Amino acid sequence: MSLVLEKLKDAARTRWSEILKPSQKAVELVHSKNLHSQDSVRLVPIASGKGGVGKTNMAVNLSIAAGLKFVGTKKRVLLIDGDLGMPSTDLVLGIRPNISINNLIEKTIDDIDKLITATRFPQLDFIAGAEEASLILGNLYYQQRRSLMGQISKVNAELVIFDLGASASKEVLDFFSMTSSGIVVLNPEPSSIRNGYTFIKNALIRRIRSEFESLSEYKSEFDRLNTVARGNFQILAQNVEKVGSKELREIWNTALSRFKPMIIINRVETLSEGLQTARKFVKNAESLLGIKIFYLGSVMRDEAVVRAVRTQCPFRIADPKCQASRSIDMIANNLLSNKELDLSDNFLSLGRIFTSRLLGRPI
Ligand SMILES: Nc1ncnc2c1ncn2[C@@H]1O[C@H](COP(=O)(O)OP(=O)(O)O)[C@@H](O)[C@H]1O
Ligand SMILES: [Mg+2]
Repeated sequence: MSLVLEKLKDAARTRWSEILKPSQKAVELVHSKNLHSQDSVRLVPIASGKGGVGKTNMAVNLSIAAGLKFVGTKKRVLLIDGDLGMPSTDLVLGIRPNISINNLIEKTIDDIDKLITATRFPQLDFIAGAEEASLILGNLYYQQRRSLMGQISKVNAELVIFDLGASASKEVLDFFSMTSSGIVVLNPEPSSIRNGYTFIKNALIRRIRSEFESLSEYKSEFDRLNTVARGNFQILAQNVEKVGSKELREIWNTALSRFKPMIIINRVETLSEGLQTARKFVKNAESLLGIKIFYLGSVMRDEAVVRAVRTQCPFRIADPKCQASRSIDMIANNLLSNKELDLSDNFLSLGRIFTSRLLGRPI
């Protein structure tokens, strides 16, 4: 491992352990009792950049499909409604818990484990989102956000699916880019494709910027090039390549190689339409952004999904043999067997995002 990379990892680890010190007042909500390695939790945020693409339906049914695969093991899936302000995961899931993330934020409950409701679906637990407008992620104080993320990273689950809000706000981008491999749900229409690309690009930019936050020696050099590029990613990339120092290029390339978003194309007319759309999207986004994108699969437009939403019973349960259910099973297989996802990458970014919040700096 190169020296810069070592430094990056060390910096993140040190800050992470400081943040998790139970004695620190600022982290009073972070419980040390069940503190196990955050590497053991695989956190997968699901985003789209725009509402109505089927994100919540994908999150719910993917969680159920993954839970079904864990039957007979001790592994569990935790689904969290992260659409604070406008939650709907509970409606699609058909479960109405009387506690939600709201309780944690307002400190009426101080332990995330107490928010977890077991569902009637195998191996699947759920945390409901908060309806209060004041609790939209963007309105949370940084300590609350950091504490929330700290707690999520310690829950007892093999897989945490985090259904994010339908927006490309700084907060949603941060939640998405705190892990290496979140899922972006797209529809085959051009507007959705463009939204999805823009979302991934902006998440990548925030991710790269935050990596530089942890290495102050190189940050000013990066900021200078970023100012010259005026937010244009391609110009910035060219400048880093042409005039950046060796270390700057190394951090840049490392950040790029660690960010591997996944995509699902939902509501396709045929599976071949999904494949074509995905191929085109992956080719363009990879060449424009210089990152790897992993195509998880497509889900057909299927009346069974609409019926399931109306009857408040997830389609994977209501109609296990429908097209959408078969697709979601394949997607769950692909997600669980994707060995490219290195958990230490998640660790790195969790470390920096927490630190940034702790110090109260915008990232
Ligand atoms: N594969 C699909 N086939 C048919 N209808 C779908 C499909 N996916 C989503 N929908 C429809 O789109 C609506 C919005 O889906 P939802 O998951 O709530 O989107 P989001 O969370 O992105 O806002 C659903 O209520 C359903 O009627
Ligand atoms: Mg939704």
